[in-house]
Amino acid sequence: MGRYDFDRVVEREGTNCLKYDLKTTFMPQAPEDALPLWVADMDFACCNKIVNKLHERVDREIYGYTSHKTDDYYDAVCGWFSRRFGWDINRDSLFISPGVVPALSFLINILVEEGEGIIIQKPVYYPFEAKIQNNNRKVVNSPLKYIDGKYEMDYDGFEALARDKNNKLFILCSPHNPVGRVWKEEELRKIVDICKKHDLWIISDEIHCDIIRANQKHTPLEVACDYYKDRIITCTAPSKSFNLAGMQISNIIINNEEIRAKWLDLTDSKFSIGLPNPFALEATKTAYNECEDWIDEVNEYIDENIRYISDFVSEHLPKVKMVMPEGTYLVWLDFREYGLDSKELENVMLHEAGVLLDEGYIFGEEGVGFERINVASPRSIIEDCMNRIKVGFEGK
Ligand SMILES: Cc1ncc(COP(=O)(O)O)c(C=O)c1O
Repeated sequence: MGRYDFDRVVEREGTNCLKYDLKTTFMPQAPEDALPLWVADMDFACCNKIVNKLHERVDREIYGYTSHKTDDYYDAVCGWFSRRFGWDINRDSLFISPGVVPALSFLINILVEEGEGIIIQKPVYYPFEAKIQNNNRKVVNSPLKYIDGKYEMDYDGFEALARDKNNKLFILCSPHNPVGRVWKEEELRKIVDICKKHDLWIISDEIHCDIIRANQKHTPLEVACDYYKDRIITCTAPSKSFNLAGMQISNIIINNEEIRAKWLDLTDSKFSIGLPNPFALEATKTAYNECEDWIDEVNEYIDENIRYISDFVSEHLPKVKMVMPEGTYLVWLDFREYGLDSKELENVMLHEAGVLLDEGYIFGEEGVGFERINVASPRSIIEDCMNRIKVGFEGK
């Protein structure tokens, strides 16, 4: 065992957490006793170094206005990406946002006019589609190809859409939620070259970049394709990596000066969201400066959870196919052999198995018949989940 105990079950009930306390508010179809492995945060305690630093900050007794505009904040964020990914971020490029999803909305407004098209690759994290639609832009889908249990980009299909002058922006999910792909450098260059040829902006959502399987390597889009970095905006955050989603802080990298000015105009002058809370700042600095060993151990633990699920599926759920994730703590399972429609599948999962997962259909038509399990939980919870699924599907 390493230094951290990820087997420990931490009581979450009574903390206003979405995953447990508010599951039936956000997912009214779920029974009260459903085991929740849906929303993407971890059931692991945060690194004790973060917890201690937050205690120290609480003891400073005043929680007035704070700002990230100090050297220590920039050094922590830039240092992390430089050490872990060989990505040297110019601090003038770094902007904060309460979240990656709000940043997507800001950027959609900045980069694209109403009615213009934005290309996404379904099945994909469903707020991409929602934010495009809610901001009155057009969703343009270039579905991933699912071939022999593996997902790939459809370059020809993508180029046909990129050629349309009404389509202005591509939102890349890297690593990809829910299918777990960690895109190779050559794949990134191929898609960027198409965007370059047809003059598209790119947002690269890299929120999952730190959760990577042992034999994989995440390359920031900007590093793979620095020749196009003026047209790439990258969204990063410590939230998925260090279980800090409730802190509401993310770091957005914008190289283009005109877009930086528009970002400040919208987020600062118009919406005044430029002052993060004091706890988010301490947590982010500590995570990026001191918690490298923690993330490495989390990744090892998640590797083992994935291995457990893979063995379980082969032994007890022969009709289910597992898409082996290269990154993220999300496992994408193909239940289509049961021949159930999306509502029937959801009902078996909720009422016969008693587990609340993210249903595949919410990620688009392409996800119908699939289920997404969040595996960032102690092994005992993962075992309970898999045993419940086995019971729920017995005889089907
Ligand atoms: C690809 C992706 N982007 C963004 C988010 C959420 O970002 P935030 O909580 O910073 O808005 C998630 C959460 O699951 C995600 O998977």
